[in-house]
Amino acid sequence: MAIQFDPTDRTITLQTRTTTYQMQIGANGRVLHLYYGRRIDGMCLDYPCILTDCGFSPNSYEDRLHREVSPDILPLEYSSAGCGDYRVPALECVSDGGVTGADLRYVRHDVTVGKYALPGLPASFEGDGQAQTLSMVLADAATGLEVELLYGVFEAADVITRAAVFRNGGDKAIRLDRASSLCLDIPFGQWELLHLHGRHCMERKPERVRLMHGIQTVSSRRGASSHHHNPFVVLMATDAGERHGECIGVMPVYSGSHRTDIELNQADSVRVVSGIAPDLFSWQLEPGEAFHAPEVILCHTDDGLESLTHRYHDFLNDHLIRSPWKNRRRPLLINSWESMTCDFDAEKVLKFAGDAAQLGVEMVVLDDGWFGARNDDNAGLGDWFANEDKLPGGLRPLSDAIHAMGLKFGLWIEPEMVNEDSELYRAHPDWALAVPGRKPVMARNQLVLDMGRRDVVEHLYGVFSALIRDNGIDYIKWDMNRNIADTFSAALPPHRQGEASHRYMLGVYELMDRLTGEFPEVLFENCAGGGGRFDAGMLYYTPQIWCSDDSDAIERLTIQTGTAIGYPVGAMGAHVSICPNQQTGRTVPFGTRAIVALSGTFGYELDPAHLTEDEKRRMRALAGRYHRFYDLIHNGRYYRLTGVDQDGDHVAWAFVDRCGRQALLNLVVTRTHANTHGIHVRLRGLDPDGRYRLKEMAVEGCDQPDGAYLSREDVAERMYTGQSLMAAGFTLRPMRGDYPGVQLLFERVDAKEE
Ligand code: GLA
Repeated sequence: MAIQFDPTDRTITLQTRTTTYQMQIGANGRVLHLYYGRRIDGMCLDYPCILTDCGFSPNSYEDRLHREVSPDILPLEYSSAGCGDYRVPALECVSDGGVTGADLRYVRHDVTVGKYALPGLPASFEGDGQAQTLSMVLADAATGLEVELLYGVFEAADVITRAAVFRNGGDKAIRLDRASSLCLDIPFGQWELLHLHGRHCMERKPERVRLMHGIQTVSSRRGASSHHHNPFVVLMATDAGERHGECIGVMPVYSGSHRTDIELNQADSVRVVSGIAPDLFSWQLEPGEAFHAPEVILCHTDDGLESLTHRYHDFLNDHLIRSPWKNRRRPLLINSWESMTCDFDAEKVLKFAGDAAQLGVEMVVLDDGWFGARNDDNAGLGDWFANEDKLPGGLRPLSDAIHAMGLKFGLWIEPEMVNEDSELYRAHPDWALAVPGRKPVMARNQLVLDMGRRDVVEHLYGVFSALIRDNGIDYIKWDMNRNIADTFSAALPPHRQGEASHRYMLGVYELMDRLTGEFPEVLFENCAGGGGRFDAGMLYYTPQIWCSDDSDAIERLTIQTGTAIGYPVGAMGAHVSICPNQQTGRTVPFGTRAIVALSGTFGYELDPAHLTEDEKRRMRALAGRYHRFYDLIHNGRYYRLTGVDQDGDHVAWAFVDRCGRQALLNLVVTRTHANTHGIHVRLRGLDPDGRYRLKEMAVEGCDQPDGAYLSREDVAERMYTGQSLMAAGFTLRPMRGDYPGVQLLFERVDAKEE
């Protein structure tokens, strides 16, 4: 059993393949957190926690003669403000009777086979593996508030998920001001924080910092998980690195305003609290009502960040992304945005499609500009019918013509938004979020629909289900191009306005659930001005997310390295675009751009009509490479050979299939120098005893095409062992030119071939 209760010491122990998580129902029903770390069997782990009387840390009434026992110091499984624990609280609440906080004590627990579900929220599922659920109920006698802590234990995947349900068992309303999903006290160790920060066009830059005493916060108040602070943090032991040391990952499955607080306190222990951002949040719980806080995915490794990455990739693929597309080869697509913006008509799109079809492209995606009065980004959002000036007869004839070329047809939509200049807004001005008496905050000259309203969700469901059904749509790019302000819902009473932001997310999730459920064959890609909502919540509905509006390959090295710390490679939308790049003005060789985009979903963001003959030849060849390496890249293991830092002169990563038969090494030189030495890399994940040959070599953007290696003869003849490639490594000659890139395929030589 992955979940065990020992009645003698009253411990509850959750076991996964390599980790142990233990709690204890302490005296007076306080639930203590004893341990989360490397697996330990058959031990009660209460002994390392020695209590000492700590000044100004108070005692519960029952412990008034035991001054060493303080809720302010004890490692607690879940804690509320207002009851003598002054650390960052998981729960803040006030009852209609004026009682603040909740003194939470154990009531009962229950173990079930299978994984709990959270109504209306994305959450991991059992999949092919097995999971067990622990439910533990704590309650506050003064208000009747019950908090049910939920734990999903995925033994084989080495993951524990957590969530919390709040029920009002009293007779007065209770307002939740903070209802976190998780509180995790880490009593021992010295920790650093790795988080992913950024901005539009530079999302998810990894940053590792020492914890200071006090609270550090990773949070978004934007109504979206945001470009700025991704909802994923890793606590790394100060001595941990890529391949060694303890790491604890905390990944909320939530796409709205989120907050993870990490506090280093007076006892030098760490508390992590994670969930919906309490800023601008409150939730009114009437007697008998329940509120579900979103899930958080916890993962611990003892052998560094690489292993944590692998566990998150596997877990999200096997137990979170539910689209059937996650296991299917996705069509090689071309998107119209960077080459056409809103400026096109049917003839232009058909020419674009015809040209692309000659180059191995399998799907044409018509981006923004096909609907309503959408000739630029000031009008039309909300009017999801074809602009017949551009597309006479609507979308169907275009879709049919593209299908007749043997291509699939995809479409861009932005369901959650509306322009003031639209038929929808003129008919339903109250559907947009706005504060009465105040001019709304504008962004991209658009407003945000109140997705918490049933009539809005029903309207959008009707519009988009018909759009997909009637027009033979194979792919949807679901965009969201501004952050939310004025979170005032015309449909909610004043005392419930704090619910508007979370109700918005529930509405978005419901719409996604219904549309992806009704059209499982349609490939959905998420987007929010690039990667402004790249989170586990969205991955539940869509297997891929456009990673960034910055398509510059060199910038993408940082963006994709940071993203892939927690999220699978197959989830990262990545395209080859034209040079000079539209966002940075930089010129990078075509082949290097392709190497970077191949480490994601792969596709194009350019007009084939403007390519040189050489670029067209490369595109044809790339289609072959895309198909050939698809499994290796999407289902293999991903290794960061140069770690998460981007300080060196090159970035290298590798994909190795699960049997160690093939390894694809990708390397991009970010700075070239004169009179320099070779580029040395060590591979990972090979079969140490296997014998490998360098099977293929593509050198891009280097003025000595074969100069990256010793000589052609060496390439063909040399035999390496996996052990030598991983320990002694492999050296490439210094490369000249702007941003040269190399792709090398090593293949194990099976005995019979030798
Ligand atoms: C966002 C997306 C782009 C494109 C535009 C269209 O910025 O990230 O890829 O779809 O919107 O307006």
